[in-house]
Formats: sequence, C-alpha cells, structure tokens
Amino acid sequence: MPGEAKKACSGACEECSRRRFTAVGLGAVAIAGAGSAVFGYSFLSPNALYEPSPIVDAGKPDRYPLDSVTPDVASGLYIVHRAEGIYALSAVCTHLGCLTAWKPDLGIIACPCHGSKFHADGIKFEGPAPRPLPWLKTWVNDDGNLLIDRSEPLTQKQFVRI
Ligand code: FES
Repeated sequence: MPGEAKKACSGACEECSRRRFTAVGLGAVAIAGAGSAVFGYSFLSPNALYEPSPIVDAGKPDRYPLDSVTPDVASGLYIVHRAEGIYALSAVCTHLGCLTAWKPDLGIIACPCHGSKFHADGIKFEGPAPRPLPWLKTWVNDDGNLLIDRSEPLTQKQFVRI
C-alpha cells in the first residue's frame, strides 16, 4: 500500500526461510555434481601403467674399459668388458629379486638380501639364488651406441665385439 513503511525482517520470515532452503539445496546439488564429475573422469580415464622402455642406451662402448664391470643401478644391470667383448648382465638377484651390488675389491657380485654371490659372468657360486644372473641382449646401433634390452634375457652367452 502506498505510504506503508517496509518492515525490517529479522530473518525468520517465510521468504527468508525459503531463500535459505533454496541456497542450501543448490549448494548440495553443486557438491554432488562436482563429485560425480571427478568420479566420472577417473572412471573414464584409461587405467594404464606407463613403464620406462626396457631398452637402455648405455652410450659409446669405449666408455667401458677392458676388464671392467660397470653397474648401472638406475637400470638394474651391469656392463662388463672382457677380452671376448662386452656383455650386459641383469643386476636383479634370481632368488627374490633384490638388487645385487658389484664388489670391486673382491671382484664379485653380491646380493645384500640373503648372501648370494655371483662371478662377473653371472654364475652363482654361493647362496640361495637358484639361477645365474641372466645375460641381456646387447647390440650396437647405427649411432655407435651400446643398447641393452632388459626384457630379453639370453639363453647363451653373447659378446658385442668392438
Ligand atoms: S634375494 Fe638375493 S639372495 Fe635372496
């Protein structure tokens, strides 16, 4: 009505209650929508495991002096240079999969977990490991780099002659 003064609301009127109810409802819908979007995205994303390539580029063969054993801890292998040529050995123990270590003072490869010991050609001479350390396929590519395929253990010894 003209001339009627608007009353100040204390927040308890029906209109204020309806507004609060609407705001809470919209907030709940927004949170549920966001949650659904997150779970939907993770459900639709491929559940793939991205592993590094099994092929290791070990650089130029002349990096490995004659009669040396060079551990590559990051790749889990040894690069060995003998008079017959270069070969690569897996550094993963054939017992329970621990990473072995080259002991230059003793000239052996030793496993810290249960004490298996191997010669530099991978042959086990002590401890519970059931098999020698596997030789890995090794070759020189067109750029003259030594490549090692960790996914391909060899069934017989193979040297890369340089
Ligand atoms: S894991 Fe190497 S000896 Fe057990």
